[in-house]
Amino acid sequence: MTTTLTLIQPDDWHIHLRDGDALATTVPHAAGSFNRVICMPNLVPPVKTTEQAMAYRERILDALMASDLAQARKDAFDPRMVLYLTDHTTSDDIRAAVASGVVSAVKLYPAGATTNSADGVTDIKGRYSIFETMQEIGLPLLVHGEVTHSEIDIFDREKRFLDDVLSDIITHFPTLKVVCEHITTADAADFVLAQANNVAATITPQHLLFNRNHLLVGGVKPHYYCLPILKRQSHQQRLLEVATSGNPKFFLGTDSAPHATHTKESACGCAGCYSAVHALPLYAAAFEQMNALDKLENFASVYGANFYGLPVNTSTITLIKQAQTVPSHYDYLGDKTLTPLLAGTEIDWQVVS
Ligand code: LMR
Ligand code: ZN
Ligand code: ZN
Repeated sequence: MTTTLTLIQPDDWHIHLRDGDALATTVPHAAGSFNRVICMPNLVPPVKTTEQAMAYRERILDALMASDLAQARKDAFDPRMVLYLTDHTTSDDIRAAVASGVVSAVKLYPAGATTNSADGVTDIKGRYSIFETMQEIGLPLLVHGEVTHSEIDIFDREKRFLDDVLSDIITHFPTLKVVCEHITTADAADFVLAQANNVAATITPQHLLFNRNHLLVGGVKPHYYCLPILKRQSHQQRLLEVATSGNPKFFLGTDSAPHATHTKESACGCAGCYSAVHALPLYAAAFEQMNALDKLENFASVYGANFYGLPVNTSTITLIKQAQTVPSHYDYLGDKTLTPLLAGTEIDWQVVS
């Protein structure tokens, strides 16, 4: 039985660090495990311009420097910025972003799909000239893949996006790099498998470990509530299969998404699971469940870098199979708290160095 796992240092290709005082908590947590992190741009206001992206990166680095992380982790941490696509983004905005060297991707939020997506795209076909430019430059399009019409069932929103929206984008832009972020269904897994190698997907720890029973049976559990919502067990099983299959189209993206505890434990609770600190032990548990710990390193540390055209990291991280209890909460935003995924429960793996 494997009890020690040494992996090439992983990267997180989908994380929310938020802004302002939140960075004092989220940045050292992310930098504890990951080198490159793709920082989602759904701030208030969103990161819509290169100038905003550069300023955001500086705020993240300031929080890193102010933290008490080991110097080696500070040196290794490399936050990468994403431009938030709106109905008004121009091709010149895209070219300027690439020229700056700090923007690694563009994010498509259908307006209203998730947290701070109100400024997202309302007319996706109206954005095709932008996709043309991105295809030409080779800049990846990251997609929160859910339709938003109120009459579409929440459990069907991802599949409908693939069928009604993404298929058409891919038909028109067959070499555009696309990442289907945080996929949650067998439909999405099979959709990605059916495309060429320029279409990939990230998978979160919660969508590998849980299904909608965890969210709903015995009462609604707000800390399992994220978007896209957890689906039925057969979808979870398919995600486990593709994540552990050794196919380079599937790689790590935690979607660690902090929301202060009181905003989740409320009648209209926020969507998002905070997993940055324990993400690797959680992924290890999922891979172990599939008897596929040997596939974890490529998923966590190699395939994403390859997709983004970056070298793999040269440092390593070590996990051991020894139980630990996830803290009940972290301090957040001064006087608030942040409840992590699986707060207060025992998990099997831990990061030791
Ligand atoms: C998402 O990816 O849709 C969520 O993580 C959004 C968020 O910012 O909480
Ligand atoms: Zn999303
Ligand atoms: Zn997200």
